[in-house]
Amino acid sequence: MSSDPRYRTHTALEAGDAEGADVRVAGWVHRRRDHGGVVFIDLRDRSGVLQLVFHPEQGAAHELAGRLSPEDVICAAGPVVARDAETVNPRIPTGTVELAAAELEILSEADPLPFPVEDETVDISEEVRLTYRYLDIRRAARLRALELRSAITRAVRRVLDEADYMEVETPVLTRSTPEGARDFLVPSRLQPGSWYALPQSPQLFKQLLMVAGLERYYQIVRCFRDEDLRADRQPEFTQVDIEASFVSPDQVMELVERILAAVFDASGIDIATPFPRMGYAEAMRRFGSDRPDLRYGLEIVDYSEHAAASEFAVFRTTVEGGGVVRGLVVPGAGAGMSRKDGDDLVDEATGFGAKGLVWAIVEEDKLRSPVAKFLPDLAPQMGAAPGDLIAMVADEEANAHAVLGALRTRYAERYGLIPEGTWAPLWVTDFPLVDWNADEERWDPSHHPFTAPDPEHVDAIASDPGSVNSLAYDIVLNGLEIGGGSIRIHDREVQQRVFDLIGLSEAEAEAKFGFLLSALRLGAPPHGGIALGLDRIVMLMAGEESIRDVIAFPKTSTGGDPLTGAPAPVDGDQLGELAISQDLPEETSPGG
Ligand code: AMO
Ligand code: AMP
Repeated sequence: MSSDPRYRTHTALEAGDAEGADVRVAGWVHRRRDHGGVVFIDLRDRSGVLQLVFHPEQGAAHELAGRLSPEDVICAAGPVVARDAETVNPRIPTGTVELAAAELEILSEADPLPFPVEDETVDISEEVRLTYRYLDIRRAARLRALELRSAITRAVRRVLDEADYMEVETPVLTRSTPEGARDFLVPSRLQPGSWYALPQSPQLFKQLLMVAGLERYYQIVRCFRDEDLRADRQPEFTQVDIEASFVSPDQVMELVERILAAVFDASGIDIATPFPRMGYAEAMRRFGSDRPDLRYGLEIVDYSEHAAASEFAVFRTTVEGGGVVRGLVVPGAGAGMSRKDGDDLVDEATGFGAKGLVWAIVEEDKLRSPVAKFLPDLAPQMGAAPGDLIAMVADEEANAHAVLGALRTRYAERYGLIPEGTWAPLWVTDFPLVDWNADEERWDPSHHPFTAPDPEHVDAIASDPGSVNSLAYDIVLNGLEIGGGSIRIHDREVQQRVFDLIGLSEAEAEAKFGFLLSALRLGAPPHGGIALGLDRIVMLMAGEESIRDVIAFPKTSTGGDPLTGAPAPVDGDQLGELAISQDLPEETSPGG
């Protein structure tokens, strides 16, 4: 980076390597210490921190230094000199030298701060940090996360550029896309009464680009989904969006592995490729999740056979009724558990939708459980050892998976089963094409309706839809879905059969995606792709708990931005131009 020499000749870090040189540095007052006439200023810029020392003999500069406040922007000049052995600071890269300042200029003064930048141990509420996000980003943790994000983005681009993928931008003002979340809408002034939808993904456009003959496309692109927010969900987030023609699922996966290897490398972590793969059915059966965290075991154990032969009525009747009895054995978690702790486990499980929970603690010579007398051999049958906790549910299979999958994650966190610093990437494949929606009594697409069925299963689409797998794949890292994609349907006859299956009439399909269907009739190459969730990837690489920590200006859990005050009411004239009238519920005031 070159700067105007009037402000600086060296960054803080460069000055640290320039002992003996006369340099000029510029940045923020990180810290000031006055030591019996000598003033020390820690100057901070993006590269790091450098100590400036002002001796009383420096006159005006020394006098000015004594009046500096935290976060004033200054520039200073003088020789870089070695520190005395006893004042060397091994904790910072520039700690062996200091700048003996002869000149000091204040470029911009800072008012008293809403929170300290320099002391990161002071805990500040997220609301305040986001209101003054630019101060928050001055703190090292936030700056490092954004630097990592930039390095990761660069690595992704490098791999895709080298593989001859073309970057194309797609519209932000568009129509509803089929990702299944709620749309953000934008009213049209020029066509009153009509609305744009912000894209939930560039799905339709990237398929159109394949029909257009681009063959290999990518885009690092903002997507918008009006969902309830969580630590890993923002209303606007960034995807690495990829599509290619004439490719197999294996080739898409291989490209993503190359991208992720580069991402890990940019984060200073080694990762082996290829990544393991697991079918959806196996993931559900063994881990109760389509995004299993394989950093630890804690596999689901099937107890149905023993249950059917047991004295315990709840278990026996569940199996007789076509359900399953399955459980988890949590190593070492039973030690010191009380009856009350057991009751809490039951409440936790019912919170996840369980009908009940049988818990048991394996002791040297007996089983401690409310149902111990009905299930005397539970421990050996489940493969549990003294000190272990056993948790069992009896339910219809899908619900047992859901409950045990949720408990597995909870228990792993609570009982410390997750090893530090390990990475478990996994491809999940062989998803069902459609899921049965019992409420609406219809088949819904598991992904979007353009996902191709496995060619070997196409004939079962009409006769046994639930048995049909798709050519979809998800990439999972440490239990988080970091990407998903599929081979798409390029054959209009197959597309029609899928629409028929999900109950989308020709007229509805035409109204919603007519433009894509027309394109598919005008020479569509076989194609497929994937989208990676960039925010989630950076969050994992940065070791952060929330994607908000790796987004420069994120939204709060209520979708607001405390810095700008968005979303905000607009004035009546603006609404009038858009032919919009508001009918807010009584208790809602705009912005409230
Ligand atoms: P999908 O909906 O699975 O696929 O999204 C791809 C990836 O984007 C990330 N993601 C999110 N990250 C943060 N906040 C959100 N609200 C959010 N929603 C999704 C996830 C997810 O794996 N068009 C398809 C891709 C394709 O088929 O090529 C799509 O968007 O990491
Ligand atoms: P109950 O017969 O309902 O009093 O339940 C006896 C024990 O079995 C309690 O500890 C319940 O939590 C447990 N239980 C009840 N239903 C289930 C179920 N479907 N799966 C697992 N445990 C259950």
